[in-house]
Amino acid sequence: MAQRESWATRTGFILAAVGSAVGLGNIWRFPYQVGEQGGAGFLFIYLLLIVGIGFPVILVEFVVGRNTERNPVGALKRIGSGAWTKIGWVFVTAGFVILSYYSVVAGWTLRYVLLGLQGNYTADGALDQFLGAASGMDAVVLHAIFMAAVIAIVALGIERGIELSVKLMVPAIIIISVGLAAYAFTLDGATEAYAYYLSPNFSTIASNWTTILPAAAAQAFFTLSLGMGVMITYASYLGEDRNLAEDAGIIAVLDTFIAFTAGLIAFPILFAAGIEPGASGPALIFVSLAAAFAELPFGGLLGAIFFGTVAIAALSSAISIMEVVVSYLIDERGIGRVPATAALGVAMFLVGTPAALDLVFIDLYDGFANSILLMLGGLLLSIFVGWIVPDLALEEISKGIRNVGSLGSTWLWFVRIPVVLALIVLVALNAWEYFGFLTGDFADWLNTNL
Ligand code: PHE
Repeated sequence: MAQRESWATRTGFILAAVGSAVGLGNIWRFPYQVGEQGGAGFLFIYLLLIVGIGFPVILVEFVVGRNTERNPVGALKRIGSGAWTKIGWVFVTAGFVILSYYSVVAGWTLRYVLLGLQGNYTADGALDQFLGAASGMDAVVLHAIFMAAVIAIVALGIERGIELSVKLMVPAIIIISVGLAAYAFTLDGATEAYAYYLSPNFSTIASNWTTILPAAAAQAFFTLSLGMGVMITYASYLGEDRNLAEDAGIIAVLDTFIAFTAGLIAFPILFAAGIEPGASGPALIFVSLAAAFAELPFGGLLGAIFFGTVAIAALSSAISIMEVVVSYLIDERGIGRVPATAALGVAMFLVGTPAALDLVFIDLYDGFANSILLMLGGLLLSIFVGWIVPDLALEEISKGIRNVGSLGSTWLWFVRIPVVLALIVLVALNAWEYFGFLTGDFADWLNTNL
């Protein structure tokens, strides 16, 4: 086998992992989940789950990736046996489905950059504008353009493509988001928005936990790029001198910071424009923010900057999803990087096209891949690492840490029992929700359209 590629610098790895984590999940998905689940209560549970499940599971993926130096499928073949070697398929399938619709949503952001630059946001017609932009031939074309960009970057390879691009993108995202949040702070709606977003009502959490909890967990997995082997793949290019726990901490903190900041941007703007954050679903940042931007001074330009930032963040995440599936074809099937990337990109484009024609497919794909497959992948991998290869995991996590103390064993215990038990409950709750969607909204859609 040829010499495997590796990261040129440590910062390259961190930036790539942060670039993967920070994306539509933080800026598109997070605010509408907060809105759907009623505000601060969701934020509170979400933060708990990032610390309690997200952080330990990043480490689960890191130890597997660095130890095996393989793509997710190859990694499990190397250290697992029997049925365990099949977990990688959950990852590759999830990645394939997620990127196919992720690219559609990223296409919407490109559209909103153009609308902003043309000064075309409207307050009254915001929903119609969104529906026009979100489904139809334009959406398909923008989906194609975004996918082509992903193919181009991933085809260039780890060092030249991914590492270089995130070195520019991640700092840009941080600077622009903080600037917009500071702007939002000066708006009239800010006080009310902060109350909605930041002070949780515990009795609401208690009575709605069966929906808040699984939604928050799915969001935590999605936003940290977990359960799909991204962190396995990226850590597979990493040297043994790195402190995995420290890197995982940096990634989780930065990702959470950007999602939190997206809320600080979105909610004051919504409240200032008198828009209820609750009911818009996946359209939230598009419909509501465009309507809000239309009312604000320099709104077109501000909006173009905002959606441009989202598009950049989406690109750095999309390349990580593509890299998982591509690294599988390279390592396991001996296919060259360029043909593997091109073929996958075209296939994902085709699978995603229905989502660019009808919004119901966004829910169909997102509910399946994000809320079920990612958490299932995380659950299976946690069982594998915690119960089947604990010695290897302990040894791997202590490499590169000078003073491990009880960190390794505490982490392992945590993964074995609380994380695994919580994930079993959460996957079940999400599967139940999805079943409701399939037999409800989706069945209705099929009845009216077929
Ligand atoms: N974390 C990315 C985001 O927040 C999405 C993603 C999910 C990327 C799973 C890779 C794997 O947008």
